[in-house]
Amino acid sequence: MKKIDKIVIGTHNEGKFKEISDLLPSYIKKISPKKLNLPSPREIGSTFKENSIIKAKFFSEKLNLICISDDSGLEIDILSGAPGIYSSRWAGPNNNFDIAIQKVFDELSLKNQNWKQEKTISAQFVCCLTIYWPNGKYISKTGFVKGKIAHKKKGKNGFGYDPIFIPNNYQETFGEMNSVLKYKIDHRLNAFKKIKKIFI
Ligand code: IMP
Repeated sequence: MKKIDKIVIGTHNEGKFKEISDLLPSYIKKISPKKLNLPSPREIGSTFKENSIIKAKFFSEKLNLICISDDSGLEIDILSGAPGIYSSRWAGPNNNFDIAIQKVFDELSLKNQNWKQEKTISAQFVCCLTIYWPNGKYISKTGFVKGKIAHKKKGKNGFGYDPIFIPNNYQETFGEMNSVLKYKIDHRLNAFKKIKKIFI
């Protein structure tokens, strides 16, 4: 297979763009759809995998280039996996994660008023990465990081639900954690490990 020397990172999210860029070998030229003023496709899939393929296919076809895209989110066990693929939509049209995090706390309280007294509210971040080629070939792999929901927001690092997610074997939230450490244990890295041979 021809070595990949140029790739579109199919996201408008700057946090994700940086994290995926850093996972890829430095000799690969990374292209941002946001900088090219390309809009994102509608995420009409019903799984992380479907949405990840929708995004990678869309940008690959628009630019006639290889594209890597992710679809990711937070799944909370006692909420039957919510917010799941709706993780970004819980933040509303202005992408306000104070609203999304408050919704998590409200939903947990509806489920169990004493949720803060429960031992652990187990949860996981999920990421499906897809690499899509202009000839229609693609590969998708999913990674996870398991942990629990914090009782209140903690930390200013990261994005999204980072301030309320404490990964297993750690005491601090992703929001408190140094990003270098987060990137060594998170769902995106775990998905990337399963596809990285494509870049070797
Ligand atoms: P999408 O994949 O762009 O549809 O959105 C994924 C959403 O899941 C983000 O907007 C965040 O809310 C959440 N999410 C995914 N990965 C992370 C992460 O590493 N930290 C915090 N939130 C995340």
